[in-house]
Amino acid sequence: MTHYNFDEIIDRRHTDCVKYDGYQEIYDADDLLPLWVADMDFRTPDFVLEALRKRLEHPVLGYFVHSADYYRSIIQWMQRRHGWHIKAEWIEFAPGIVPGLAFLVQAFTQPGDKVIVQPPVYHPFYYVVENQQRVIVRNLLLKKDDHYEMDFEDLEAKLADGARMMILCNPHNPVGRCWSRDELRRVAELCQKYQCLLVSDEIHSDLIMPGYKHIPTALASPETADNIITCMAPSKTFNIAGLSTSEIIISDRKLRRRFEQVVHDGLHIYVGNIFGEAASIACYTQGDEWLGQLLDYLYENIVYVQDYLRENLPQIKTFRHEATYLMWLDFSHFGLTHEELSECLVKKAKLALNDGAIFGDEGKCHFRLNVACPRATLEEAMHRLSQVFAN
Ligand SMILES: Cc1ncc(COP(=O)(O)O)c(C=O)c1O
Repeated sequence: MTHYNFDEIIDRRHTDCVKYDGYQEIYDADDLLPLWVADMDFRTPDFVLEALRKRLEHPVLGYFVHSADYYRSIIQWMQRRHGWHIKAEWIEFAPGIVPGLAFLVQAFTQPGDKVIVQPPVYHPFYYVVENQQRVIVRNLLLKKDDHYEMDFEDLEAKLADGARMMILCNPHNPVGRCWSRDELRRVAELCQKYQCLLVSDEIHSDLIMPGYKHIPTALASPETADNIITCMAPSKTFNIAGLSTSEIIISDRKLRRRFEQVVHDGLHIYVGNIFGEAASIACYTQGDEWLGQLLDYLYENIVYVQDYLRENLPQIKTFRHEATYLMWLDFSHFGLTHEELSECLVKKAKLALNDGAIFGDEGKCHFRLNVACPRATLEEAMHRLSQVFAN
């Protein structure tokens, strides 16, 4: 068994990476410890780098088509990891999940149509809807003591009011819920009842904490699966977001035809890039052992932060953490305004966390912490938090 070293500190500065080289304008500072955008400070696994090198041994990088291995690797991963049986013809390519969501909004809604999201939620959900002149409808998550729940009564009322699409985040970024089979089934059945297409963004589906299990929404509700479109990718799991390779899974033939009209015939987007395909195959065929060790490390990081805050900074509340490497932290108990908290984090603690308000107004006084980094980086972050917030 190979032992992977997630403690390795890798200097990512000056590699044009968003996390280190792209925060300066956003935070108006250039001396921050960046724990914001959702990629990992860990090395992309060697078996992925090796697959890329191998592809480079052939000296021609011309046009390509998806290979049988590409489809097979995705199908087998879904079966092995999630117990979900899909077919090759259901798999469509997208050069990223956010572009994929934008295609789906374009293909299946009209300007002026309503699209439901569940705030506080991943902010590009708003952009792909509103920037295409569709209307966001907010089905707010309910904040309970240490976790969030869905408000089904409100969801039904909003569906009854005529939404064309719902974008579900399963598991949920930023609140860290791994939705249960029952919750997913209820959402799927309500969407079907009101003829609202359900788009399930499952990009974080492989990043699940001990004691929880990811359930693809389409698997939770097989009777309504043809009304569900699922977005998956190896990008978060294996730290290859820079390779722009994701899959959109559509079981219904008519929906697929419509997607192809818009994305293939209209936009001429079919396959992406050769390296993304090579990496995707390597991840989905060789990734299990590495992922097991990654999840152990992430879980220990999460427990470390929870314990540290409980002992040293109990005013900062954490939530039950079920999935993703993004922790949702509640700073509201300090009695400071959102702007004051932001200023303390950036100007005094010198930390770049995601500002909770970008996920919706409900995210004010909350911040999102990316724990996909070596423990030493997190220790430094906790130290900086203590220096500023302990008193
Ligand atoms: C829920 C969710 N969807 C999509 C993405 C990004 O997808 P992509 O980079 O493939 O466009 C993220 C990244 O954080 C995310 O959290």
